[in-house]
Amino acid sequence: MTKLGVNIDHIATVRNARGDRHPDPYLSAKIAIKYGADSITIHLREDRRHIKDKDLMIISSNNQIPLNLEMAATKKMLKIALKRKPDFVCIVPEKRAEITTEGGLDLKKNRKKIKYIVNKLINSKIRTSLFIDPSIKDIKLAKQLGANCIEIHTGKISNLVKNKLNYKKELTKINKCAKYAHLLGLEIHAGHGLDYKTTKILKRINLITEFNIGHFIIGESILYGLKKVIKNFKNILKNK
Ligand code: PXP
Repeated sequence: MTKLGVNIDHIATVRNARGDRHPDPYLSAKIAIKYGADSITIHLREDRRHIKDKDLMIISSNNQIPLNLEMAATKKMLKIALKRKPDFVCIVPEKRAEITTEGGLDLKKNRKKIKYIVNKLINSKIRTSLFIDPSIKDIKLAKQLGANCIEIHTGKISNLVKNKLNYKKELTKINKCAKYAHLLGLEIHAGHGLDYKTTKILKRINLITEFNIGHFIIGESILYGLKKVIKNFKNILKNK
């Protein structure tokens, strides 16, 4: 069965809005796993805008939680990953001012640095993935750099689908990339901007073995969790 990785960064975003402990990312990770998530993704950004080092420490120390750490290709992050030993790492590009990860890695420009980091992670038995745009050139490079997996950035197709534009060309491109990556022996993941509709479309590509989804899952959870929480409060307020 295709795997679902749940990105809980935005639980931390809400928690940080009050600087307190609620809602707790660790608890959300445990709930997600209990209800069928195959792994938990957290992105420890260089500016620590959502997930903090302490979250990584707590979540990574529970070996019942298969953990995927997203991180920039820097020596500082490598040091943290080697210390915390998540099950998986996904190397992503990172710009300070961006709202979210805006595109795939520039593998050509950063090949030396990425090769070094991939090698260190894999030697430490951490499955390593590179977040790339759907491009044959980048898949070839990802293989040369020694990655175990690629994660295809699905932001473009997600935007096309959401705006009711023709997405067929992008879907064909992703399909071709998946076939090529499979031929090279790479595991194929996909993520970014996915909702129910885009996931249903991309699921047709059987070679994609894992979807990593964050914002939409957390957004839907807020909307559909309201019913229960309002009920709880009404119950509390019912009896004087
Ligand atoms: N995969 C990667 C590599 C990402 O950087 C992100 C965003 O943090 C996601 C998946 C999840 O994207 P979204 O929050 O849009 O579902």
